[in-house]
Amino acid sequence: MSTPARSLLVIVLAAGEGTRMASSLPKVLHAIAGRSMLAHVLEAAKGANAASVAVVIGPDHDRVAAEASRVLPGAHVFVQGERRGTAHAVLAAREALARGYDDVVVMYGDTPLVSADTIATLRAPLASGAAVAVLGFRAVDPTGYGRLVTRDGALLAIREDKDASTEEKRIDFCNAGLMAFDGRAALSLLESIGDANANKEFYLTDAVELARAVGREAVACEVTAEEVAGVNNRAQLAQAEAVIQQRLRARAMAAGATLVAPETVFFCADTKLGRDVLVEPNVVFGPGVTVGDEVVIHAFSHLEGASLARGVSIGPYARLRPGATLGEGVRIGNFVEIKAAELGAGVKINHLSYVGDSSVGEGTNIGAGSITCNYDGYGKHRTTIGANVFIGTNTLMVAPVSIGDGAYVGTGSVITEDVPADALAVARARQVNKPGWATRLRERFTARKAQKG
Ligand code: UD1
Ligand code: MG
Repeated sequence: MSTPARSLLVIVLAAGEGTRMASSLPKVLHAIAGRSMLAHVLEAAKGANAASVAVVIGPDHDRVAAEASRVLPGAHVFVQGERRGTAHAVLAAREALARGYDDVVVMYGDTPLVSADTIATLRAPLASGAAVAVLGFRAVDPTGYGRLVTRDGALLAIREDKDASTEEKRIDFCNAGLMAFDGRAALSLLESIGDANANKEFYLTDAVELARAVGREAVACEVTAEEVAGVNNRAQLAQAEAVIQQRLRARAMAAGATLVAPETVFFCADTKLGRDVLVEPNVVFGPGVTVGDEVVIHAFSHLEGASLARGVSIGPYARLRPGATLGEGVRIGNFVEIKAAELGAGVKINHLSYVGDSSVGEGTNIGAGSITCNYDGYGKHRTTIGANVFIGTNTLMVAPVSIGDGAYVGTGSVITEDVPADALAVARARQVNKPGWATRLRERFTARKAQKG
């Protein structure tokens, strides 16, 4: 018989000021791989099967609260009125703690690279009786971090940098900040923490010594410094981005995509790629992209909010914007922009075109330099193009307008009226040829020049 799973409460501390970001945006809302740092942490909590997630925010952080609810609609948001330390912040979520979970894990909103697996690693000692578990890493420069004081594998204490003795300062095993607590002991442990330290703050880290004082065990789990890297400024934000991009590239390749030059391809955390997808160099995926099997994405393409069915080929230099929905085998060529448009199977738009707020039926071919004129300066309007339509080169379709199945539109037309199915529409000035006219013009100009000279 398997033992029932232990229930988990995750408390995310996100009351940070973020002043070193030099930004009007709260720190945890800065994005890596197209998703806020807070969202990365909440996704990890979700992946670790948290029964409940609490987010502790600072006063006036409505945007952080809104992001938490957007990502995890069931998340409970608590406000820490005053910044009085990490233990004080956790106690802002007292109501959640009091509900009684088996395990409580505290995470930081500005430490976005922690995986669900690491949360599981941190919880493991709780199942075997420990009261506190701490994530530790080896720091090249431990200055500023809490040091993990250990003896024979047991964790004795965490000493904050400002409170550490010279000897303790030499320890390079540091507290990453993530801590797990036995849910039954958590509240009383946290409530016994005082603020008698260099910062006059309530340190969450004091829980280690307090647990030991009542005969309970504390454990440190070691992880790589990379996984627990915190973000305090834009340079660290870029470092975290680099780490996550490396992971996403590895994930894409493991799932069957060929990346010709992986280091030049940028994904979002939510990018979905099918099998046997080929991505050429210098491609950027924004949020919300789904790519089917056997799709080819040629160099220098930019995709966002787009869905590509099996066998599609785009680029080089294609731009797919939100709402671009490409049916099977669609071909999008160079310098083509698609926005909020559904393209049926086999549609070809090979050169220099803009198709927006449109629907295009199966098998239709749109010639080079064709544009759907969807905006009149006030509102957006739709263009509806049927199946197996041929749109001649350099056609302007002034929306709202519709072109019926099987119609032909003559090159260089400005289409302002609906075109019936199977009709030919030509909307351009007729060509006039004037025989000998050019010769007479040249004679006149030559004579005029001779007079002046
Ligand atoms: C903390 C740890 C330290 C560890 C380091 C890792 C404590 C006492 N120290 O130190 O051992 O090595 O993280 O980066 O826990 N926060 C609140 N409210 C507060 C104070 C903090 O929400 O009143 C949040 C912050 O937004 C941040 C996290 O808690 O997400 C850590 O706070 P911070 O001030 O950065 O702690 P450190 O001094 O870095
Ligand atoms: Mg910090």
